[in-house]
Amino acid sequence: MNPDIDFATLKIPRHVAIIVDGNGRWAKERGLTRMQGHDAGFDNLKALAKHMLKRGVQVASFYVFSTENFKRSVEEVGHLMDLFVMLYKHNLRDFMENNIKVVFSGRDEPLPAKVMQVRDELAEQTKNNTGGIVNFCLNYGGRAEIVDAVKKLAASGADIENLTEEQFGKYLYQDLPDVDFMIRTSGELRLSNFLLWQNSYAEFYFPETKFPDFHEDDFDRALVEYTRRDRRFGAIKNA
Ligand code: FPP
Repeated sequence: MNPDIDFATLKIPRHVAIIVDGNGRWAKERGLTRMQGHDAGFDNLKALAKHMLKRGVQVASFYVFSTENFKRSVEEVGHLMDLFVMLYKHNLRDFMENNIKVVFSGRDEPLPAKVMQVRDELAEQTKNNTGGIVNFCLNYGGRAEIVDAVKKLAASGADIENLTEEQFGKYLYQDLPDVDFMIRTSGELRLSNFLLWQNSYAEFYFPETKFPDFHEDDFDRALVEYTRRDRRFGAIKNA
């Protein structure tokens, strides 16, 4: 616990979304392989997710694999896919013990069958947990999500004429609250097709720290920054 932070006054965002970035550069700085960088990111993600929910965050989304990430080397893609399988094999018990519901956002194709299988199994086994949601954006793209939602909507025969934004949101991959706080680690200042619909009114935060080093204390400092922000949702200040 950071003694400089007054935890009683912190505002806690309901939905925090993190673009996990900088694993590769973190590894390079240490003379390690990109795969080792992802391993370090993987370990950090698990600890950080638990910490975020402990702080009162209800939904923690992580951009762990974009649709574009399939363009990386076979070795790197394969390693990341293996980590998803490990997430199921080694961490299901931890999610259950911590009462965490795990959901996924993204397309099926071209995920390997073994990854889809553990993805669905993890979601199924944790679906009744009530201690917070971890949303893994896996093979995810924000534009693809909107296109996929439109397709589902068209197929549903819904009354398009009277469609509201709230109703449209139900056709997205997951029915989650809007993102309140979007963090991208490693100093990159881009949204990279992440949760385009849900991030509409999010506060953005871009720490320089690379993801494997973005620990619990860094998240608490991010909360201090979030608490300082004046969220107006388009309204006039002090109106
Ligand atoms: C971005 O860093 C990170 C990724 C594309 C993968 C993120 C994946 C993990 C943290 C591990 C997998 C997680 C689970 C839950 C199985 P980068 O490689 O783009 O870093 P760089 O920009 O420094 O090269």
